[in-house]
Amino acid sequence: MERRQLGRSGLRVSALSFGAMTLGESQGFMKGVTSTEAEARRVLDRALDAGIDTVDTANVYSEGRSEELLGRWLEGKRDRVTLATKCRFPTSGLGADVAPHEQGLSRKAILRACEASLRRLRTDHLDLYQVHMQDRSVPIEETLEALTDLVRAGKVLYVGCSNYAGYRLVESLWAADRRHLVPYASIQMQWSLVAREGERELVPAARHFGLGILAWSPLGRGFLSGKYRRGMQPPAGSRLSAWLDTWKSIDTEHNWRVLDAVEGVARRLGTTPSAVSLAWLLGRPGLSTVIVGARTLEQLEENLAALRLALPPEDVAELDRVSAPDWGYPQAFIGAREPW
Ligand SMILES: NC(=O)c1ccc[n+]([C@@H]2O[C@H](COP(=O)([O-])OP(=O)(O)OC[C@H]3O[C@@H](n4cnc5c(N)ncnc54)[C@H](OP(=O)(O)O)[C@@H]3O)[C@@H](O)[C@H]2O)c1
Repeated sequence: MERRQLGRSGLRVSALSFGAMTLGESQGFMKGVTSTEAEARRVLDRALDAGIDTVDTANVYSEGRSEELLGRWLEGKRDRVTLATKCRFPTSGLGADVAPHEQGLSRKAILRACEASLRRLRTDHLDLYQVHMQDRSVPIEETLEALTDLVRAGKVLYVGCSNYAGYRLVESLWAADRRHLVPYASIQMQWSLVAREGERELVPAARHFGLGILAWSPLGRGFLSGKYRRGMQPPAGSRLSAWLDTWKSIDTEHNWRVLDAVEGVARRLGTTPSAVSLAWLLGRPGLSTVIVGARTLEQLEENLAALRLALPPEDVAELDRVSAPDWGYPQAFIGAREPW
């Protein structure tokens, strides 16, 4: 398994990492689309055997049960795993009625969330602690100071962010520099052949300022596996049969054209649409690790094939062209003259 440096930090991550959002029985947004504990353990064991030593979870996944399951699985393996989790959303679930310190990025919320994650994960440190989304109600300095205290206390080794606007990311880097606080080492963002909007601001910022990038939902919640068909309802039991609003936003002519191109490349190369989609992402400049979502062992095996696939440059060029969104202003204006 290839290991990559997380931006300019000293942390190395496996090129594919394991996304733990499908772990633990959920009553929240993942209700009905997670794996059983037995299957989750098989998938995690196989992932580690295959060299996937980086695992990404969050306090909010399955309302804390993803971290709990991971904590049980990690017993005896903690030193072999680079463990990343997140805070910001309430563990009791999105949209629930929660106290102010049970969510957000205030000092109190961060310190409490970190202690709770350490307990659930049965560990004394997190390799990468990420804030799950920006919180403009809290001064960025307060968030960074709380994270820096966790680093100084040895509870967290590196800090990262996720779901940030470009300006807020750069503001965070400035604030860390000005105050001698620990800067974000990485950004975790949605990135796939059907979600390239992060290439407008976040990818250039990460590359320019030396942050690593972790890509989430690399198969567009499973759409790029090819199991969804044009004009048909999502297959029973699939993620998008449970997430109909997301399905509506994915079921667009643009995305079907992307999938047609992916399937064409897969046929030519004798592989699967999932492998092609993940291999394309692995080749994007700036990408540190692709966080693979696999609810079953079969899905994981299929996704691992991306590591053995070298996409010919003409196929990459075709996928780049077909999947390019309308970049809009100012990227389209700048892009007509030079790469932005
Ligand atoms: N920072 C954030 O805000 C954020 C947001 C989302 C995710 N994430 C992270 O990113 C990770 C991955 O996200 P994701 O689960 O949305 O990734 P994804 O790869 O886009 O979707 C994974 C889902 O697609 C289906 N699938 C995967 N491989 C397949 C295959 N080979 N054939 C058929 N179906 C397949 C499975 O769903 P079904 O079998 O149920 O259809 C699986 O649960 C998460 O675990 C989490 O760690 C972070």
